[in-house]
Amino acid sequence: MARLKLAVLISGRGSNLQALIEACRNPAYPAEIVLVLTSEPDAPGLERAKAAKIPTRVVDHHDFSDRPAFETALTAEIEAAGATLVCLAGFMRLLGGEFVRRWRDRLINIHPSLLPAFKGLHTHERALEAGVRVAGCTVHFVREETDHGPIIVQAAVPVHPGDDAATLAARVLVQEHVIYPLAVRLIAEGRVKIVAERVVVAGAGAPTGALVNPAFEL
Ligand code: GAR
Repeated sequence: MARLKLAVLISGRGSNLQALIEACRNPAYPAEIVLVLTSEPDAPGLERAKAAKIPTRVVDHHDFSDRPAFETALTAEIEAAGATLVCLAGFMRLLGGEFVRRWRDRLINIHPSLLPAFKGLHTHERALEAGVRVAGCTVHFVREETDHGPIIVQAAVPVHPGDDAATLAARVLVQEHVIYPLAVRLIAEGRVKIVAERVVVAGAGAPTGALVNPAFEL
């Protein structure tokens, strides 16, 4: 079966891109990355793409007079590469309605919180400030409202006593690298349907048990 063609959009270090690159190395994985796209000429993640011999393009937002023109250029690159699923992987520029509508149901994002909690920036600082005992990450379809849209996969991790934003971010990031390739696989296998703005995953069970934090012997 033909592999699903991915465009991965990054702004920074690209560790989620790397997780997708690793997954795609397996010939049995049903997707391949055909383009890594960024608006940041110096994004360190570009080196990861080059090392994996994946085509890269820079669409620098400074070169465009307004957001629609910038986004038209992004779409042109994605279409030229033949990608049919767009994966935001730490892409830190807000995307406008036209782009989101153009790629509706074919545009996904990873966010470092258990959405709908902690949308936006500084998620780990805010989670610690709120005193939550469980944190996590979410892969979801993108809608016009930021960090909102049908949820495909989530992973939960415990908050540890003494955590700071960096230690919590690192624990969540390990799970980001698990759930992003998983979400892409489920979509590529045709298992993911959006029904009334909620995701239904065909043939998927759910784990038993619960994550209880703090851990206590009763
Ligand atoms: C990741 O933690 C991702 O969840 C987050 O940026 C980081 C990018 O890291 N994305 C957002 O906050 C989007 N709202 P990476 O460049 O190493 O993949």
